[in-house]
Amino acid sequence: MSSNIKSIKGLEILDSRGNPTVRVFMELEDGTKIKSSVPSGASTGEYEACELRDGDKSRYGGKGVLRAVENVNKVIAPALKGMDATKQLEIDERLIELDGTENKEKLGANAILGVSMAATKAAAVSHNLEIYEYLGGVEACRIPVPCMNILNGGEHADNSVDIQEFMAVPYGAPTFKEGLRYVAETFHTLKKLLKDRGLATSVGDEGGFAPNLKSNEEAIEIIIEAIEKSGYKPGIDISIALDNAATSFVIGKKGKYDLKWSGLGEKTTDEMIEMAKEWVKKYPIILWEDPLAEEDWDGFAKFTKELGGKIEVVGDDIFVTNTKFIKKGIKEKTANASLIKLNQIGTVSETVDAVKLCYENNWRAFVSHRSGETCDTFLADFTVAMGTGHLKTGSASRSERLAKYNRLLEIEDKLGDKAKYYWK
Ligand code: PGA
Ligand code: ZN
Repeated sequence: MSSNIKSIKGLEILDSRGNPTVRVFMELEDGTKIKSSVPSGASTGEYEACELRDGDKSRYGGKGVLRAVENVNKVIAPALKGMDATKQLEIDERLIELDGTENKEKLGANAILGVSMAATKAAAVSHNLEIYEYLGGVEACRIPVPCMNILNGGEHADNSVDIQEFMAVPYGAPTFKEGLRYVAETFHTLKKLLKDRGLATSVGDEGGFAPNLKSNEEAIEIIIEAIEKSGYKPGIDISIALDNAATSFVIGKKGKYDLKWSGLGEKTTDEMIEMAKEWVKKYPIILWEDPLAEEDWDGFAKFTKELGGKIEVVGDDIFVTNTKFIKKGIKEKTANASLIKLNQIGTVSETVDAVKLCYENNWRAFVSHRSGETCDTFLADFTVAMGTGHLKTGSASRSERLAKYNRLLEIEDKLGDKAKYYWK
């Protein structure tokens, strides 16, 4: 029986924010049938691969993806029919060639990624392998530390907190299962603490709470309290990771930031770095993503020079999972890790290349979901296959987030004694 592609079909579905996204169905000649769904970001980097939207204001406010779906059905499906799903590189190269643009704007990275992931999944199923086994081989046994985003701000919530993500990182736990428990318990304790103070316990896009706090620091302090009240030691059992998503603070010219949600007001790059240095001294912060904006390459390098020896400095919007930008970052010592989002670059092969480039240069790779998600769990398998040791996929609420954590529980269980769990 052959693993050649028999059919590919696209469908417009809705993501966790109720916005349209692409789902792809793939069937192989051997009868394998799978589907894959594409996520979507809100605080996106300027140089991300293009998410093709219809722009027709009469449907979903212009956010429809019927053109991307049509590209799957009319352009990609006939071109890939008969290709071997196990030849991932050939498939991805064909997709890139069919598109022909630098940022995948002709077919849409949403159309392309849906098909690329579908090929990986179909090939795995066809070989009777789990996706992480198929992609990562026998080496794939490292389950990532779940960086759980328990408090949301910035573009992901309607509150008075500037920093987009406050993550609880159970790096001191013995296993993934226990780590997940540590941070899920912290999430529940945090809810109680917020409630006791008369603060809102409604959640943001990634399932973390989105209360109106007096300051960003109050967010860190209440999380530390939640860690302690759950019976864990901050900095030993559970540390904190932050994502400023600082591109969303930028006003006007480079090197000026406006902490507008909290009302803290304007800050220069140097002031942002000073603030970070103070916090890293004061709080158990282990990782800081996008502390500065995507165009502030010099500021990023300065931040990394000051803090890169102590914490993981991750570039998201600045690198957009693109080896071209990660290479520049490695040369200029811009950070010491790259965020990894499949839909920022648009194919599985290119995402694997981005992770490998990080490893070859002693950088870490931090795998991430998007703020608009589906219940597709490809990300969990991908992370184990790549052995990145950490991932972020939201909070202990919202099923599209828990789907990935639950898949990791399954993988850890399946691996048994072979499963490894460690931070670095
Ligand atoms: P996004 O946010 O998916 O809205 O881009 C996630 C992030 O900034 O890491
Ligand atoms: Zn980010």
